[in-house]
Amino acid sequence: MTQQLTDLADHLDATDPLAHVRDRFLLPEGVVYLDGNSLGPLPAAVPPVLEDVVHRQWGTDLIRSWNTHDWWQAPLRVGDAIGALIGAAPGQTVAGDSTSVQLFTALSAAAELRPDRPLLVTDPEHFPTDRYLADSVGRLHGRQVRRVAPADLPEFLDEHGDQVAVISYSPVDFRSGELHDVAALTRAAHRVGALALWDLCHAAGAMPVHLDDLGVDFAVGCGYKFLSGGPGAPAFLYAAERHHDSWRTPLSGWTGHAEPFGLQADYVPAPGIARARIGTPPILSLLALEAALTAFDGVDLAQVRAKSLSLTGFFLRCAEELLAPEGFEAVTPAEPEIRASQVSLRHPHAYGLIQALAAQGVVADMRAPDILRFGVNALCTSHHDVLTAATLLQRITSAGDYDPVPQEPGTVT
Ligand SMILES: Cc1ncc(COP(=O)(O)O)c(C=O)c1O
Repeated sequence: MTQQLTDLADHLDATDPLAHVRDRFLLPEGVVYLDGNSLGPLPAAVPPVLEDVVHRQWGTDLIRSWNTHDWWQAPLRVGDAIGALIGAAPGQTVAGDSTSVQLFTALSAAAELRPDRPLLVTDPEHFPTDRYLADSVGRLHGRQVRRVAPADLPEFLDEHGDQVAVISYSPVDFRSGELHDVAALTRAAHRVGALALWDLCHAAGAMPVHLDDLGVDFAVGCGYKFLSGGPGAPAFLYAAERHHDSWRTPLSGWTGHAEPFGLQADYVPAPGIARARIGTPPILSLLALEAALTAFDGVDLAQVRAKSLSLTGFFLRCAEELLAPEGFEAVTPAEPEIRASQVSLRHPHAYGLIQALAAQGVVADMRAPDILRFGVNALCTSHHDVLTAATLLQRITSAGDYDPVPQEPGTVT
């Protein structure tokens, strides 16, 4: 049985059109890294750029680098580079701050664009920060938050649509890896005059996203997962051009002013996406992210998606053959059209198993209480990596070679 899986992995890796892209990443020898959906691996382009930015640009050229190395435009330049990966024409995406801050900006702006509608609608299973911030924006803007599962959203909108200011969802359920239909849910929101905001943390760089074509209003996402921009990398915010004349951002920082160096008494927002700049941009992280994005040079996101599906499909097959007999249940959908770039497996000893895997060089993560989560980054993961992970997991489980302890609160996994 394992020989068949080995032969299949050999074949799939030998015919992988993205195999050469793995060399664009610096992965430690002997490590199988399946945590790209939490912290992407280090792109080879990043260290030399950071070396130059620190020693030459900052160390030698000092403050004039804001102009000579065009640090000032970095949030917009990096924003456009991300825009190219999420179907956004230039001038609509800014990079900076955290996803949480960008969510607050986007949700507030959307609420203000629909002042007479009392409801903000979000996913009960959304990532916690999305839920917390929806509550804050609701409180600050005098709106109510309704939590509606994506599957129930069309019906909810049929009934209450004229009350809804904005829907805020993610294309990917971060626990299960199920994909939601961005096109259909955006259409459903627009049909009733609501706006659509998408959190692309688990989608940007992992699959094609067509923000402009789908008429999405706002989107946010992080730079540290599939974009591999590094720990705490700047996030991004997309605002569709049609809102640029009318939208207001809640954080009126000086770098989003129309004349930041005019040092005027009152805030006048910059035109376009630039008003979503807030304070002085984090140049080291922005330029690291900019270098990281070159890993996508010449890579077609349709190919990324095809390989991601091949990897997750192969993982699910390994799970069925090797892991189901050990008590693992696949949580990620088998249907490719609703499967994101991860495989989640349920097991009561998820935490201990993830620790045991890591001790033997296979890095993944877990989501409490019982989900083992394996993210596949199609740019640098092979089918052999997947097979190594599944085989090791089977060996550890059948030998009972792990500590069946629950996760300690506060542990990063
Ligand atoms: C869907 C989603 N939104 C937001 C975040 C995190 O936001 P921040 O970058 O502000 O920490 C995560 C983190 O994993 C996430 O999965």
